[in-house]
Amino acid sequence: MNGYKNTQAGTKAAKSCREQRKDSDNYPENENSRTNLLNRLYDEAAGDPRIFWENRATELLSCSRRWDTVVEGDFATGGLRWFSGAELNASVNCLDRHLQNGRGKKAALIWQGENESDATVFTYEMLHREVCRFANVLKKKGVAKGDCVSLYLPMVPELVVAILACARIGAIHNVVFSGFSSVSLQARLHQCKSKILITADAVNRAGRALPLKANADEALDDCPDIKSCVVVRCSKREVQMVPDRDSWFHEEMASPDIGDQCPAEEMAADDTLFILYTSGATGRPKAVAHSTAGYLLYVMYTCKVVFDLKEDELFWCTADIAWITGHSYSVYGVLGLGGTSLIYEGIPLYPDPGRYWSIVEKYKVNIIYTAPTVIRALMKFGTAPVEKYDLSSLRLLGSVGEPINAEAWRWYHDIIGKKKLRIADTWWQTETGGVMISPLVASPPEKAGAAAHPLPGISAMVVDELGQQVERGRPGRLVITSPWPGMFKEILRARKKTDRRGGAVTSTGYDTGDGARKDQDGYYWITGRVDDVINVSGHRLGTVEIESALLTHKSVAEAAVVGIPHSLKGQAVYAYVILKSSFEQSGELLEELRDHVRAMIGPVATPDVIQYAEMLPKTRSGKIMRRVLKKIAADEYEHIGDVTALADPSLIVDLVEGKKKH
Ligand code: PRX
Repeated sequence: MNGYKNTQAGTKAAKSCREQRKDSDNYPENENSRTNLLNRLYDEAAGDPRIFWENRATELLSCSRRWDTVVEGDFATGGLRWFSGAELNASVNCLDRHLQNGRGKKAALIWQGENESDATVFTYEMLHREVCRFANVLKKKGVAKGDCVSLYLPMVPELVVAILACARIGAIHNVVFSGFSSVSLQARLHQCKSKILITADAVNRAGRALPLKANADEALDDCPDIKSCVVVRCSKREVQMVPDRDSWFHEEMASPDIGDQCPAEEMAADDTLFILYTSGATGRPKAVAHSTAGYLLYVMYTCKVVFDLKEDELFWCTADIAWITGHSYSVYGVLGLGGTSLIYEGIPLYPDPGRYWSIVEKYKVNIIYTAPTVIRALMKFGTAPVEKYDLSSLRLLGSVGEPINAEAWRWYHDIIGKKKLRIADTWWQTETGGVMISPLVASPPEKAGAAAHPLPGISAMVVDELGQQVERGRPGRLVITSPWPGMFKEILRARKKTDRRGGAVTSTGYDTGDGARKDQDGYYWITGRVDDVINVSGHRLGTVEIESALLTHKSVAEAAVVGIPHSLKGQAVYAYVILKSSFEQSGELLEELRDHVRAMIGPVATPDVIQYAEMLPKTRSGKIMRRVLKKIAADEYEHIGDVTALADPSLIVDLVEGKKKH
């Protein structure tokens, strides 16, 4: 058992969390006052953006030194920098200042384990103490300001503690999804040059303890830079501990030389708070870095403006903290505002499809923020698992990660929201730090599946391949046209890199890589990626990344991967492979290839279909025509389009024949 489990079990935890929530409310109560507030913000944002963001920062951030400038640079010249001159610490903003504001006894973090009786409530005081203690452990291990600390952990409270402990001492955290393979972990460890890894013995999944430390050990076999590995106890699983390198989290924390206080490092506004690897259009996962002041301000601002989080409310973001959604809305946004954040260790279907709703009832969750893929998975089971529970505490329903199809929207709205609650279908990305486009009020009613409007302070445009704005109703690429504080650091500096990423002319702004349409009423509709990125169950995967994984198998000569529509996952992975001449096509080999991708990247990247091919459609200059492969994989043979650029148009027939066999 880990150090936190069972300190307060089940119902006791739920009761105490309700008691510990503070009962004041400074935010607008009803829809009218909310509309007024939003109108005020939109009016203010239409003026000088510097003043708009300065006012938000003054309202929301605690800095030990105030900024000299709000923003420097622009998209055209690069060199963007927010709040230069300011000094602050993100953990102080998320913890210490709430102790000073009388929130010490208020619940900051509620953790529900997969096992019903495993639950813990951390008040702000308790979380502060744990964070300081772990910050001291990190310092004892030699971690200093500017070092990168990698965290490969399941959804346990130690993950939040470790994140904030890094922030406290100015170390950059790099959270790696616990569902990723040892190969993926190793690649990220090599890239970010961490000297320390925090992991766990196991991940509790559907009643089983799946090994995690063993994966970490495999990754660490070839990571000489990692000098320490701290292991959180999450199960009874036996693990190998390497002497002089590995130690237990709970033992480190209990060491008599570890104190309850740890002074916070003063960080410059632009210092990196964390990096997060995500899939881009190239084969290698790319590190997205976020700044301290700009990011923190933006997630707090969006938490207020999108979710209208109130002092006594409980916010449950169901995403894994290893993704940006969890960073922004399980940790920094909610804790920055002094709210209460709930995190859950398990999956939505265990022990039954009512689990999420039982958690909503048990803790009286007010805002749930989840993904369309979860809603689609739960819809399959009908309304019975929902009706068993009292969901009357819910005030707002959030959605993120992929377009929400009309059927899922309707179910979420009607069955979970009892036709009364607003759905915030929030569009954003790892790169944007926080929500950019979302419906903000319940009236006028949201259009099912439209991400609706850019937030106050955000300007967007739909452009064609040349960067020219397209007419309303026409599809194009979504570009963000003015800087915002949550923007990732790469675009702050190197405009050229952004140009390469999107391919379109980007002096207009940041090219998101997403397709969009703005309708006649001014609502934005997001249509999915227009680059080589696919979205499987809300997980972002680079097609080139999966192709590269396939190519490391001894039998594969060439590979091409595309996304196909999938009723539950949104998109599924469809791979075409050409074997080397010494290998025979067989069903067993297909299985082996599937397992190979799973082992190289992780279960989420496993192809649903692998089709053997003799040749791949290429342009005369040798570029694979993914557009054609995508149509074939999706059975859209009539819409294959112009293939005159193909070196050998006849091979289309063979590919279609091959497809029909699947
Ligand atoms: O394609 C968009 C899709 O998810 C991508 C960003 O993925 P990631 O960086 O992993 O961040 C996910 C959580 C913010 C986007 O480029 N996406 C995200 N939210 C939506 C969406 N597509 C449509 N509607 C959304 N609400």
